[in-house]
Amino acid sequence: MVVVTSGNRDEHSMDAEFPFAPKGKSLWQQHNCSSCHSLFGVGGHIGPDLTNVHSRMGSSYIEYILERGKHKMPSYQLSLEERESLLQFFAYYDRLGKYPLNSVTREYLGSFTKEN
Ligand code: HEC
Repeated sequence: MVVVTSGNRDEHSMDAEFPFAPKGKSLWQQHNCSSCHSLFGVGGHIGPDLTNVHSRMGSSYIEYILERGKHKMPSYQLSLEERESLLQFFAYYDRLGKYPLNSVTREYLGSFTKEN
């Protein structure tokens, strides 16, 4: 699984289904979203991890929060194409896997237990 969000190594795997995802990734880097947000736990922790935000919250909510901001989340003046690119970037990451794994709990002192 590729979780690198700098450089261009994973762009070839953003398949034809998400043609604007590479552009979304550039916007993600350009606006330094990862200073506050993580993908697969890698990045900042001021805001929530966004690995599965696409399926968790849906496109309209994501577009709304990008435009309006919320608490410490700044608002961004983005074009329609830029918003669509970020949505595809999130859709692409959502498809890669689930984070955190619901069935595994990280215990105090770093051990893991599996639920059910
Ligand atoms: C200064 C820190 C900061 C930066 C920079 C930032 N965010 Fe956020 N973001 C937040 C915080 C904090 C929240 C949670 C807001 C709340 O619900 O109170 C948030 C929420 C979100 C959410 C909704 C997540 C959810 O589960 O409700 C999305 C989507 C999001 N940000 C995307 C982005 C994108 C894309 C960028 C870059 C263009 C970005 N953020 C930059 C702090 C930041």
